[in-house]
Amino acid sequence: LGPVKIKNRFMAAPIFEGMASDNGEVTDQLINKYRAIARGGAGLIVPGYMGVNHVGKSTPKETSIEDDSKIPGLKRLADAVHEHESKIFFELAHGGRQTTKELIGETPLAPSAGKPDPVFRVKPRAMTDNEIEETISAFAAAAGRAKEAGADGVHIAAAGASLFDLFLSPYFNQRTDKWGGSEENKYRFLGESIEACRKAIGSKMALTVKISTNDFTPKAGVTPELAKIYAGYLARDGIDGLESSQGMIAYSSMNIWRGDVPVDDYAKLMPAWMRPIGKLAIKRWVGKYNVEEAWSLSDVETLKPALGNVPVILVGGLRKLSTMNSIVESGKADIISIGRPMVKEPDLVNKFKNGTSEEATCTSCNKCVGKLLNGSPLMCQCFR
Ligand SMILES: Cc1cc2nc3c(=O)[nH]c(=O)nc-3n(C[C@H](O)[C@H](O)[C@H](O)COP(=O)(O)O)c2cc1C
Ligand code: SF4
Repeated sequence: LGPVKIKNRFMAAPIFEGMASDNGEVTDQLINKYRAIARGGAGLIVPGYMGVNHVGKSTPKETSIEDDSKIPGLKRLADAVHEHESKIFFELAHGGRQTTKELIGETPLAPSAGKPDPVFRVKPRAMTDNEIEETISAFAAAAGRAKEAGADGVHIAAAGASLFDLFLSPYFNQRTDKWGGSEENKYRFLGESIEACRKAIGSKMALTVKISTNDFTPKAGVTPELAKIYAGYLARDGIDGLESSQGMIAYSSMNIWRGDVPVDDYAKLMPAWMRPIGKLAIKRWVGKYNVEEAWSLSDVETLKPALGNVPVILVGGLRKLSTMNSIVESGKADIISIGRPMVKEPDLVNKFKNGTSEEATCTSCNKCVGKLLNGSPLMCQCFR
């Protein structure tokens, strides 16, 4: 990927772990998790999102890269992965409106005020011009810290209702200034942040991006056709790889992590008075989000012509080695990004390599997701 040589085409996809300290510092638990995945053979590891500033924090126990005090812990994380000849990119993120006032101590930010978020139940505030510029600087400063900590690259989170995704989406971005309106304008915030991050990391580190190809918002947000336009801009702006994803927690979390619906755990996230009716509504999702192998492939095929030679990182429901091989051999994608299966089997890549496995055993039951959303650290809950 760009200047970074990776020993194989397997990437451990970013998954929020809930393992940082309350202050966002890297813990031994987090290091041990990624050491195991590195020892297990993955060529590239991208830990779950890291908040670039306090107002962009989405969840308690999220890893932070917002100030220099975090660098020593981040360095220990990078060193642990490097011990096993794997590479590590840090995913830089701002959660936008996907947070609460209680967590960040102020009204969450978005491109436009809009309606309250149906899950986080907050009405966000539209960012000022100044706040947008400050956020670009916060991304650049975070990228500089990633470099100092020894990361091999930065992965910019622009999917899943992250702040960049909100700016890219016509559903959330109703601005009429230079940050909204035309596609170029909606992209400007991400584009300028990429430029600033690139300056901060120099030419020896990679810069990759994760965008949404389909937000599944009630009215059109980012769609594969719009994502194709953005992919063209990203290629023009010199990114080293593009990962594509789908869905967002507010409207369609099950599009992010297709599989079984953890009904009881989702219901527990609601206020007690809402649970009985909420549970009935959630039950209606059962069976509608079953995993299909490589479910993003058709979206990625839409983007690919706009990307030129930029490598494509495919994620979502990749489980069978034969499917992965045929996707790479056909040139439809360059890197195979694997999320939940590496939660269950951190040594999955070695098993593929030494022939002891042909298919991940993760059943996408999403029990780990349900527990994580209710405050437990990310761990497989399926003991078969
Ligand atoms: C619990 C959970 C948390 C996630 N957190 C992140 C994240 O921090 N950043 C990100 O870009 N994607 C995140 N994702 C999306 C994954 O990277 C990946 O796109 C998704 O799990 C589909 O891949 P899989 O079927 O291999 O699990 C998360 C997914 C899950 C299940
Ligand atoms: S609990 Fe285990 S098997 Fe179920 S989705 Fe999570 S990692 Fe996969």
